[in-house]
Amino acid sequence: MAIVTLDQSATNQAPELTSEELRATEPIYRRVRHIIPEIEWPVHASYIAAILKLKRERNAIILAHNYQTPEIFHGVSDLTGDSLALAREAANTDAAVIVLGGVHFMAETAKLMNPGKIVLIPDLEAGCSLAASITGRDVRLLREQYPGVPVVTYVNTSAEVKAESDICCTSANALQVVESLSSDRVIFLPDEFLGRYVAGQTKKEVILWKGHCEVHEKFAASELRLYREQYPGLVILAHPECPPDVLAESDFVGSTAAMINEVAKRTPRRVLMVTECSMSDNVAVEFPKIEFVRPCNLCPHMKKITLPGILESLQSMKHVVEVDPRVAERARQAVQRMLDLPPQTGR
Ligand code: 13P
Ligand code: SF4
Repeated sequence: MAIVTLDQSATNQAPELTSEELRATEPIYRRVRHIIPEIEWPVHASYIAAILKLKRERNAIILAHNYQTPEIFHGVSDLTGDSLALAREAANTDAAVIVLGGVHFMAETAKLMNPGKIVLIPDLEAGCSLAASITGRDVRLLREQYPGVPVVTYVNTSAEVKAESDICCTSANALQVVESLSSDRVIFLPDEFLGRYVAGQTKKEVILWKGHCEVHEKFAASELRLYREQYPGLVILAHPECPPDVLAESDFVGSTAAMINEVAKRTPRRVLMVTECSMSDNVAVEFPKIEFVRPCNLCPHMKKITLPGILESLQSMKHVVEVDPRVAERARQAVQRMLDLPPQTGR
């Protein structure tokens, strides 16, 4: 029997794969075969087999955001979803080790909710333009400028920023969180476009910050109009991190999970998901009869997470995510207040 070479990182070669392991990954391939070319599969399969084995040995789980590539999303993850689902799952797991297939703020949130567990992120450079747009000091200055006004912070932020906030939100529950506050003014940080989208649906005054997602801000309404002309009957679903004119041009606006639910509900002939490109691949696996039209905007941070990186992370138990205890308690409270809100129907 061939041996799975666990320390392949020095040579950058894929682990060896036994014929039994290749067979064991066949059910996974059957699911993803219209998305992943056959020629690529043996390399993915060798990493998948090695990761699945090591996950069992380490009592680890892999949480994967909807923007992870299909070989991660469908190949090795235990739990998948939007930021809200990952935050909830991170709070509920019994595993000893959590590997975050996503970006750094998601790993930090998992650590906040599991201070006693080991949380790993395969690449420390997996950041986020929204998280980079604001610091804890910025929030303190805003509080001075707007005394008494509560601060709602998108989870796409550092623990330091969460610690300065009253409550967190995700794109799935931003309106619910804003509406849950008794004040008729709120500071909404840091995503300007998500904040504007919420402001359009509430009577409260929403004070905004100028943070943007570098992936979603690139979409343009004119581009969507061209797609509609080219693909008759196209249903357009957009993420609320997109600019307002893009949202106005879309048939539905929601978080990544809400967009997936909408595809399942409508089962359109053709759909365009105005969001990170890998999500269409992941959803197309479940809906092979739907034509997914793809303007391919990739998140460079999400794409730093790879199968070789996940394997190395589990082999070397790196990179361990820590949150300064001085900020962790307050940041955890802001996340927990969000998680304590009643679940919304239809999400
Ligand atoms: P959701 O999956 O929560 O909609 O967030 C999208 C996103 O950009 C995460 O980084
Ligand atoms: Fe951040 Fe945008 Fe990438 Fe999500 S898609 S991690 S919001 S840069």
